[in-house]
Amino acid sequence: MARCFVTRQLPGGAVDRLRAAHEVEVWDGRLPPPADELAARAATAAGLLTLLTDTIDASLLERSPALRAIANYAVGFDNIDVDAATARGIAVGNTPDVLTDATADLTFALLMAAARRLPEAIADARDGDWLTWEPGRYLGAEVHGATLGIIGFGRIGRAVAQRATGFEMTVIGVGAGEPVEELLERSDFVSLHCPLTPDTYHLIDAAALARMRPTAILINTARGPIVDHDAVRAALVDGTIAGAALDVTDPEPLPATDPLYDAPNIIIAPHIGSATRAAREKMADLAVDNLLAALDGKPMPNPVN
Ligand code: GLV
Ligand code: GLV
Repeated sequence: MARCFVTRQLPGGAVDRLRAAHEVEVWDGRLPPPADELAARAATAAGLLTLLTDTIDASLLERSPALRAIANYAVGFDNIDVDAATARGIAVGNTPDVLTDATADLTFALLMAAARRLPEAIADARDGDWLTWEPGRYLGAEVHGATLGIIGFGRIGRAVAQRATGFEMTVIGVGAGEPVEELLERSDFVSLHCPLTPDTYHLIDAAALARMRPTAILINTARGPIVDHDAVRAALVDGTIAGAALDVTDPEPLPATDPLYDAPNIIIAPHIGSATRAAREKMADLAVDNLLAALDGKPMPNPVN
């Protein structure tokens, strides 16, 4: 029996499997545990099951002498100082693959909603502004046959490319660290699927946006800080690009008062890329499998260090 802290209630029954083997505390708030509450529990825990909203930095790790394993309930792990964990012999794992299709599906939902101006059209219908069938209203971009630039050509990027073939799109994919200039210049849609690292921070800045077509739409379902929000807002206001659909922002949550919401042709969703019942339950299974393995002295099935 080892002490485990699970930082939020998770869908499905995976945490019951953890309870069967270990002494488990689950934070039951809707909001994440505040930093001091998280640190207090980490101080005595052997295992942590964390969310992307929990910051696991070197100072927290230093104050957690019994900690042996951290299972992040996400494919991304930029919320964890993995180097610091590795230096302390703490195993870190993530939940890849099981959310790839859900995230790729949401990417396409955002791409199409932005291309066809769905939020605006739906709001008008509801607000009584559907007066007749108007030939020149809500004119959007063709998705079919367009060119889709995918930055970050890993599992999720490739799954997006697979969907694009059904729309007979031309796909340009670049891997992490490869030059993006030509992709930005040629694409009708630019979709981000790279991890957040020091190299990808503000990868999409004013200079990158200036390379994009004035008709182009930016989609981000990766991590908010990959995009410079001030630059995107300016690019939407002055018509440097035609639209943006963001499932991730910087910060998260993005306060309702943030001026980005008032930019033209912006769609902002509250980080729901993996939010299908199936994906979120499978993520819980993988995270619990990671924790159970590491606490049993075995390698995690999905390690990141
Ligand atoms: C969600 O953003 C994840 O990284 O799983
Ligand atoms: C995430 O699963 C990725 O590699 O794109």
